[in-house]
Amino acid sequence: MVDDDTELEARLEEQETFDPSEEFVAQANVTDEGIYEEFEENWPECWDRAGKLLDWDTRYDEILDDSNPPFYEWFADGTLNAAYNCVDRHVENGDKNRVAIKWEGELGDTRTYTYQDLYREVNEFAAALRDLGVEEDDVVTLYMPMVPELPIAMLACARIGAPHSVVFAGFSAEALGTRMRSADSEYLVTCDGYYRRGDALDHLAKANEGLESLDHDVETVVVDRLGDAGHGHGLTENQHDYAELVAEQSGNRVDPVERGAEDMLFLMYTSGTTGQPKGVKHTTGGYLAYAAWTTHAVLDVKPRDTYWCAADIGWITGHSYIVYGPLALGTTTLMYEGTPDYPERDRLWELVEKYSVDIFYTAPTAIRAFMKWGSKFPERRDLSSLRLLGTVGEPINPRAWKWYYRHIGEEECPIVDTWWQTETGGMMITTLPGVGTMKPGSAGPPLPGIDATVVDTKGEPVEAGRAGYLTVDEPWPGMLRTLYNNDERFIDEYWREYSDVDSDDPDDWVYFPEDGAKIDEDGYITILGRVDDVLNVSGHRLGTMEIESAIVGVEGVAEAAVVGGEHDVKGEAVYAYVILEDGYDDDEEMRERIVAGVEDAIGPIARPEQVIFTPELPKTRSGKIMRRLLEEIANGEEELGDTTTLRNPDVVEEIQRKAQR
Ligand code: PRX
Repeated sequence: MVDDDTELEARLEEQETFDPSEEFVAQANVTDEGIYEEFEENWPECWDRAGKLLDWDTRYDEILDDSNPPFYEWFADGTLNAAYNCVDRHVENGDKNRVAIKWEGELGDTRTYTYQDLYREVNEFAAALRDLGVEEDDVVTLYMPMVPELPIAMLACARIGAPHSVVFAGFSAEALGTRMRSADSEYLVTCDGYYRRGDALDHLAKANEGLESLDHDVETVVVDRLGDAGHGHGLTENQHDYAELVAEQSGNRVDPVERGAEDMLFLMYTSGTTGQPKGVKHTTGGYLAYAAWTTHAVLDVKPRDTYWCAADIGWITGHSYIVYGPLALGTTTLMYEGTPDYPERDRLWELVEKYSVDIFYTAPTAIRAFMKWGSKFPERRDLSSLRLLGTVGEPINPRAWKWYYRHIGEEECPIVDTWWQTETGGMMITTLPGVGTMKPGSAGPPLPGIDATVVDTKGEPVEAGRAGYLTVDEPWPGMLRTLYNNDERFIDEYWREYSDVDSDDPDDWVYFPEDGAKIDEDGYITILGRVDDVLNVSGHRLGTMEIESAIVGVEGVAEAAVVGGEHDVKGEAVYAYVILEDGYDDDEEMRERIVAGVEDAIGPIARPEQVIFTPELPKTRSGKIMRRLLEEIANGEEELGDTTTLRNPDVVEEIQRKAQR
């Protein structure tokens, strides 16, 4: 047995390419290699294939309007409703008893919503939102953990044409306030709390604190998740109990509002180079069609499947691949409230076994944690129901890929390594599991119809094997349309770098995702990571500026620089270099105050791994902080790169010494 194992490991280690099994291909949604050419030759009409996955109130005639780049419009003369597409049509098509959402709480409590159940509750909550005063185009903020009421609230908003803005529950009160203010949002749906590693967290306290920072009144709906384990907050005059509202609307129906394809479906705030989060705007027609298409083509989802994306709905992955894509296709989507290691490290595999999960989609950071815990945990469980595996959020190295392939997929499941972003709405670069050869470590070719390339600083394609910058030359239906109330920043952030911004010709416009990448002879793209000041910590996107401004906000801090250092599970970890004002000590108390400052401003996900006090930061003669050096120090590199251009080279050794403490 041991010998077999070693032999297998050795074979896997050497193997550079993997093909899907015949069995997988025989049942896959997309199997025709010709699809790439077909899309290219018929572009942009090829996108009708995505549009056709939806039911339209008014069928569109025009697929793409590119007359005003980069403000592209897709299916613009069509009308539809996203909630109708995700719920009603499955009820009408005879699938009302199929399970839409299977939910499991951390403590093992479960809830099941058939499409009929979902239809009922989405209608009732939509009616309740209307009664609270929500009108079409009002932004409703959803600050909720992984409870079924979150997708229900999203769909209720979609039903009445009110865009939602979901704020990840792990974000702080301050982060909630900033996002509500930015979106002028006067409605909030939140929750009393939720379970994390057995503790009943007090979420409402955070929501209340966030609300206090706003100048305007907010109508709030509170879901009671904890019951008697709750924290005893009373509800104020503007706060309403979710269950009561829904009960009052028992049996009520709300007609789905006919929305223009280009009408906003939701806003999602994400981090960028500056301290201010960006409100990414996604639309009803293009986004939903793209989410449905990629769920069909890449995740190979079929209505009869039990499909599990183990992300949080508070991020784009959860929006597209827990809620909109899977429900548009009428499948069963699994939601899990808790962490993968509670009560034990086989929790996820227990759920795969219990629900006979067919498709499993997670982040490399989770896979690295599973590897660290060891294969004995998945081995305890029957994972034979799995057919396809996926990853998203950060680069996955070949070792982690192969571990996932062997120990979770049991060498039978293809793996799709999907590159995309909050802004792209859905997957952009990955193999099609029923078509392509997989190369661990490389996401794969751009999807059919996606014109992505790797270029140098001048925008010229780089040779195979050379590092460059990822760009996308043609628009696609799921793309963001703009940044909320900020067209200028939209152009500056995503287009200016490689476009002729004065041109009306769409050929002069190139989307820049701010990732570095390499491409090989077969056109497979390996993503190297962000080239802007954005960190990827456990698959979460964090702006260094946001963290720096949180640290500088702490009393006694004069200046701060934040960089990412390599971390074996998180991928990147936050390293904070801090200069104190005179009269403050660099002691444990100061360190704790800095960590607390970051947690208050953003949330525990942004918590610095190390706070390094230093009398100065390494700066170039023009006064720019040399971040590269700080990164090298964070990574414990002894041989540092060129320091001759520094104004203060002496400080480097001192910082190195402090970082080692
Ligand atoms: O750097 C890329 C990385 O995550 C960034 C986007 O983050 P966010 O908007 O939070 O969306 C994450 C989920 C879609 C990208 O700019 N990224 C995402 N997927 C991959 C990836 N890096 C490498 N490989 C991937 N598969």
